[in-house]
Amino acid sequence: MSTRLTDLPLDPIETASRAELQALQLERLKWSLHHAYANSPVYRRKFDEAGVHPDQLQSLADLSRFPFTSKQDLRDNYPFGMFAVPQERVARIHASSGTTGKPTVVGYTLQDIDNWATVMARSIRASGARRGDKVHISYGYGLFTGGLGAHYGVEKAGLTAIPFGGGQTERQVQLIQDFKPEVIMVTPSYMLAIADEFERQGIDPASTSLRVGIFGAEPWTPEMRLAIEKRMGISAVDIYGLSEVMGPGVANECAETKDGPTIWEDHFYPEIIDPDTGAVLPDGEFGELVFTSLTKQAMPVVRYRTRDLTRLLPGTARAAFRRMEKVTGRTDDMMIVRGVNVFPSQIEELILRHAELAPHYQCVLAREGHLDTLTVRVECAHGSDTALAHPARERLAHEIKSYIGVTAGIEVLPEGGIERSVGKAKRIVDQRRR
Ligand code: DLL
Repeated sequence: MSTRLTDLPLDPIETASRAELQALQLERLKWSLHHAYANSPVYRRKFDEAGVHPDQLQSLADLSRFPFTSKQDLRDNYPFGMFAVPQERVARIHASSGTTGKPTVVGYTLQDIDNWATVMARSIRASGARRGDKVHISYGYGLFTGGLGAHYGVEKAGLTAIPFGGGQTERQVQLIQDFKPEVIMVTPSYMLAIADEFERQGIDPASTSLRVGIFGAEPWTPEMRLAIEKRMGISAVDIYGLSEVMGPGVANECAETKDGPTIWEDHFYPEIIDPDTGAVLPDGEFGELVFTSLTKQAMPVVRYRTRDLTRLLPGTARAAFRRMEKVTGRTDDMMIVRGVNVFPSQIEELILRHAELAPHYQCVLAREGHLDTLTVRVECAHGSDTALAHPARERLAHEIKSYIGVTAGIEVLPEGGIERSVGKAKRIVDQRRR
């Protein structure tokens, strides 16, 4: 086993054997299905309609007989219809604003919040945090799970939380300079905006006290990791999660291997399915990631379809725990341009090959007659300009055509030309529905 980069103590389960972990999973899975069936009218109806009962689960593989849950189930039961505990046991509510319609609402008991803090603390340690570190949190606080999820985890790990939240980029820079945090937790796209602000103030972003960045809430490519690590002079790890399953900390990369997030399988049971047929796929095959909560009280989820596309891989730094490959696409983010499937991450990977271009970009979909068109809007790099970036623009168009197979128009904008988001970046602008 590789040397750990943290000097903080691990949870005992992190060093358990795979057999021990699976025994715990089976015990917890039985509890979770019974809990959902007994206390959530929604799950009782779904199980009854599918003709299954929690008693029929005798092995982990039996889970495939149970019905899926989707975002639509949460919408149909808005706001609190998925809860499986009485209101007086719900200690907190979070919600994620979808692009369309009502937000997705989730609830937690005090025990759920404690379990969440446990997996977040684990995630922060796995990222390479060390005793005495101060953690600058730039994920948004509020209904979004990012800020508070990170916050409770930092405290549980025994570290110092700096609860900045999103926005006020100039002040973020000032406080990073003054408080000298060793760790930052932020979306990768907002990290870039903070790096730009350091440069604007004439400070080398690689010269700060920061040593570790814990980045997630949106897809980011391995190329983006290298770009951020170089520019910030830090080690960048991937944190994955979603509100419906808990929030951040469902999975987190281990700093010593950086080979995809380790799934905290003692709380969240993963499956990969064929998104079209729903069939369970073996480990190693690509498909849609599905989670069943093993300990959640307030809002258990059974076979929740994340719409994130990835595959399951064997454990490395935490041998018993499977990893997921870095998520670079969601079924919802797939653009279909004249019959070719394109993910923004594929465009990102190509943009990052060009030093004259900055990884601030958007994919604009429009319609000309009956045909869809894709225009990639990208900024020129700091110190470059649109004229200097012209050859890069030509090369990028050519690469998109040859590697992805679509014709894309490229618009190079001056520095600052792409709107900055303080949380998740908006990568797709769809003008076709107008
Ligand atoms: O984004 C929770 C979170 C906060 C995760 C902070 C990490 C850090 P939601 O707003 O419900 O929750 O969005 C969940 O974001 O299904 C993925 O599509 C995407 N996502 C989250 N983390 C990653 C990641 C939070 N590391 C949705 N890589 C998920 C790629 C990610 N996509």
